[in-house]
Amino acid sequence: MKSNFLTLLLAAAVSSGAFAAVCAAADEPAPAAKTEPAEAEKKSDAAAPAAAAAAGGAPMKPIDRVNATEKGKLKNPFDYKDPKIVEEGHKIYMGLSCNGCHGGGGGGGMCPPLTNETWVYGGDDDTLFRLIVLGSQELQKHGYARKGQEGVVGPMPPYKDLIDDEAKLWKAIVWIRSVWKGREEKKVW
Ligand code: HEC
Repeated sequence: MKSNFLTLLLAAAVSSGAFAAVCAAADEPAPAAKTEPAEAEKKSDAAAPAAAAAAGGAPMKPIDRVNATEKGKLKNPFDYKDPKIVEEGHKIYMGLSCNGCHGGGGGGGMCPPLTNETWVYGGDDDTLFRLIVLGSQELQKHGYARKGQEGVVGPMPPYKDLIDDEAKLWKAIVWIRSVWKGREEKKVW
């Protein structure tokens, strides 16, 4: 009985070992974390690609959207109640291996849950989009600070080089909205 339990514990530790390292070592840089100072600079013509995308041009990269948009102004263009977008968003979430850290249902595990009322930096569209694109470390350099305390502390890795189309990230965020279990009055989107 007791040894069965230990075996289970061990198996769980081994299978989640890769991710445990990320969430346990808060001061280790995330593998994909690179500092690209030039990209952080806001250029005056940064709004041009945004306009092109709005006019039906090529898809915009999430990092270009971040750089082109004033702090606090990013807004999800998708309907978070549309079941088709929710489903697509979950596929994108799984495809980007977000589940490795946050769980397939978003309930957390090695890393913070996406389903509870606590948001580390804030739960609005603007903050979540930037957090996922820039990662924890870069986000904090852009003037976003920790407000909420989750049980697990670790850096969220930057996804700016892993997502080619901002629509994919917005859809994943739609799915995150769908699994959130907080109280209606705590909703910030
Ligand atoms: C390597 C592990 C890891 C992966 C992979 C990962 N995250 Fe995270 N994520 C974290 C950690 C750790 C935090 C907490 C960041 C902090 O405290 O600074 C976090 C925070 C978040 C938050 C804010 C949660 C809160 O309670 O405020 C969201 C939303 C989020 N991640 C979404 C995603 C999405 C979407 C993906 C996939 C595109 C993803 N994460 C992939 C580790 C990960």
